[in-house]
Amino acid sequence: MDNNIKSILITGGAGFIGSNFLNYFVPKRKDYFFINLDKLTYAGNLENLANLENQENYSFYKGDIINSELVNYLMAKHDINMIINFAAESHVDRSILGSEEFIRTNVLGTNVLLEAAKKYRIEKYLQVSTDEVYGSLGSTGLFTELSPLEPSSPYSASKASADLIAGSYFRTHKLPVCITRCSNNYGPYQFPEKLIPLMIINALNDRKLPVYGDGMNVRDWIHVDDHSRAIMTVLENGVPGETYNIGSSNEQNNLFIVKTILNLLGKSENLIEYVKDRPGHDRRYAIDPAKTHKELGWKAEVEFEKGLADTVKWYLSNRGWWGRILNNEYLLYYNQQYGNRN
Ligand code: NAD
Ligand code: TYD
Repeated sequence: MDNNIKSILITGGAGFIGSNFLNYFVPKRKDYFFINLDKLTYAGNLENLANLENQENYSFYKGDIINSELVNYLMAKHDINMIINFAAESHVDRSILGSEEFIRTNVLGTNVLLEAAKKYRIEKYLQVSTDEVYGSLGSTGLFTELSPLEPSSPYSASKASADLIAGSYFRTHKLPVCITRCSNNYGPYQFPEKLIPLMIINALNDRKLPVYGDGMNVRDWIHVDDHSRAIMTVLENGVPGETYNIGSSNEQNNLFIVKTILNLLGKSENLIEYVKDRPGHDRRYAIDPAKTHKELGWKAEVEFEKGLADTVKWYLSNRGWWGRILNNEYLLYYNQQYGNRN
């Protein structure tokens, strides 16, 4: 291979954020070879990557990040220079139903990748983390990189654990680790268990829109393309050992999101159904991205109103994509979850 081309191991690249990252950068960045390792859990979908089939700087392997033999094989075969770890179990509600897979993939799987990164002395390891590791805010204040880790759910606790282990590999082994902590993402290819796609698809099918509690929980929404650009910026320019918050200063409560979606689709607010609250439900997330702005020059670009309208349009034009998901396992999960909730 051309010596000027660097190889990046992307884990979890068939999921929502990983596939958006690959669709965005594989065609643009021919100076990188992207190797995607994904287990293809319920959330992984090769349809998300159909546009990359003929790209010569991309290849896919189906496999588990916990399989150290496979990870080490890929490190050697592709002479990996960098790792971006997107792979995770990512849904809070599922982690409440059962935490085992979350600990297995998010904690033990991350450890396998860190060990391989150490063994092969790679030049950058980027751990894709979340603002949820900081826990919940009251009505004021923002999360900075120095906020304490106070995760509420098994999901966020597993992500916080992974962050701590990643940090220890920097301090103990001098592994060049960066951690990114981003707020809630939205955009194309998001699995319809998360708020925005779930509400769009239920509304399109004239099904009830289940709003947890009073609907006043606040999330800080960012378009997935802004997150992808931030990740590439941190990969290339982030200082080893540092953590970077990523957000677009766009706080919205859930009810506002749901009503906006109904409005965009011309559907009635009567579809809203208030259901029992999520246990341990974090009230508010809000990111202070000042460090990433100042030190790396990254800033979010997508304006929320347009980003959300485009996302609704994407789900309208891609009924086949989510229709196939609904036919597979989603309805089973939906029934299981809401059967217990009301
Ligand atoms: P997702 O659930 O859509 O995708 C996860 C991907 O990881 C899937 O393709 C799945 O098949 C793969 N995967 C799961 N277990 C694996 C394993 N053991 N080995 C290999 N692959 C495995 O998740 P997402 O929303 O794209 O999130 C990606 C990352 O970004 C996660 O680490 C998540 O914690 C983080 N994050 C997400 C958000 C958000 O709003 N979605 C915000 C901040 C951070
Ligand atoms: P979610 O998309 O699961 O992301 P996270 O919990 O990781 O922030 O949920 C976003 C918000 O929407 C959260 O406050 C929970 C709420 N929510 C509902 O009210 N109804 C739903 O059906 C879902 C999935 C989420």
